[in-house]
Amino acid sequence: MMDIETAAVRVSFELNGQPVSIQSPPLKRLLDVLRHDLGLMGTKNGCGEGDCGSCTVLIDGLPVVSCLVPIVQLDGAKVRTVESLAEPGRLHPLQEALAETGGAQCGGCLSGFQMAACGYLESLGDAKTPADDDTELRRAVAGVLCRCTGYQRMIEAMRRVVAGGV
Ligand code: FES
Ligand code: FES
Repeated sequence: MMDIETAAVRVSFELNGQPVSIQSPPLKRLLDVLRHDLGLMGTKNGCGEGDCGSCTVLIDGLPVVSCLVPIVQLDGAKVRTVESLAEPGRLHPLQEALAETGGAQCGGCLSGFQMAACGYLESLGDAKTPADDDTELRRAVAGVLCRCTGYQRMIEAMRRVVAGGV
C-alpha cells in the first residue's frame, strides 16, 4: 500500500518567475520545500502552525502562510517569496521605505510582512489610491505578528509606497 507521507509526486509551478519542477512527498509543506529543498531561506519558520504569518508567501498574488500548504496543491501555481522583491543593487520600494522609517527591526516577521504588504500594494495597480486612513493597510498585514515595532513604522512604510513617496 502506498504511504502518502513518503511517496513522491512531481509538482511543477512557477517560483519567483522561474519554472520549477520537483519530486516531493505530496504533503510536504511549501515552507519546507522552499527552505530545505530549494535553498530559499528568506521565508521564515515561526510557529509552524498558521498563527504568526512569518512564513507568508504570495500564491497567485494572494498572501498565504506556507507552513499550511502541502506542496501537491501548488501544481500550476505562481509562487513568490521575499527573494523576488529586490533586484541586483536595488531594493524594492517597500524595503527602501522600511529602511527609512525604521520599520525593520529583528527581522523575524519581516519577510512575511513584506509579502503580505506587497500582495496588497500590487493589488492596487498603477493607479494607487491612497487610503483615507490606515485601516486597509493594517488589514492587509493583520495576519503577520510583529513583536518589535508596534506596526506604526511598518504602516508608515506602506503609506509611503502608496503615496509614491519613496
Ligand atoms: S510559521 Fe507559518 S504561520 Fe507561523
Ligand atoms: S521586526 Fe521583530 S518581530 Fe517584527
